Amino acid sequence: MLREPEARDRAAFIELLASPEVHTYLGGPRPRDELEREVSGAPERWPGSFVVDLDGSMIGQILLRRATGHRRPAAAGKADLGYLFLPRAWGFGYAAEACAAALGWLAGALPGEPVVLTTQSANVGSMRLAAKLGFTEVERFEAWGAEQWLGMWSPVTPSS
Ligand SMILES: CC(C)(COP(=O)(O)OP(=O)(O)OC[C@H]1O[C@@H](n2cnc3c(N)ncnc32)[C@H](O)[C@@H]1OP(=O)(O)O)[C@@H](O)C(=O)NCCC(=O)NCCS
Repeated sequence: MLREPEARDRAAFIELLASPEVHTYLGGPRPRDELEREVSGAPERWPGSFVVDLDGSMIGQILLRRATGHRRPAAAGKADLGYLFLPRAWGFGYAAEACAAALGWLAGALPGEPVVLTTQSANVGSMRLAAKLGFTEVERFEAWGAEQWLGMWSPVTPSS
């Protein structure tokens, strides 16, 4: 289920942001003590910020944001998909199901809106997920010390 973040998700958010496994291709995790100090018990809520809930507990996060400051002109200003799941929830297809639902939500809210996604090309799981969701390659570029893959997704619009 996709829902808004709630105060009871705090521990799961800290686990997600402090996990070395989750941040292997994202520049490394943040120190847990810093997160304990800084993560609020009253999370910000905005359209496009989703908690992925499995049987009443948070297993991941999906963000759809405007890529305002993106390094690549092709992505600037577009809706940008990001996803982070707790390692114990990997490999069951939850990420694919939840991201497809978030893209469906966006297609309903902003019909015809394309979505971009940036991931390290070495991040095999994320690359597979992007392909499964229907993202296609726009370009590859070097940033943050690694090769990055920029993909784009366009909603299927019924032909008239
Ligand atoms: C990327 C991530 C969400 C994928 O989660 P997941 O639970 O494996 O995703 P799913 O179960 O929905 O699987 C998606 C596909 O990727 C495949 N996959 C996942 N990890 C893989 C790996 N390490 N190697 C090869 N394939 C992998 C799955 O098998 C599946 O493909 P299939 O259906 O053809 O078998 C998860 O690994 C994650 O949260 N990683 C850390 C955060 C991150 O790197 N985010 C990307 C930033 S944009």
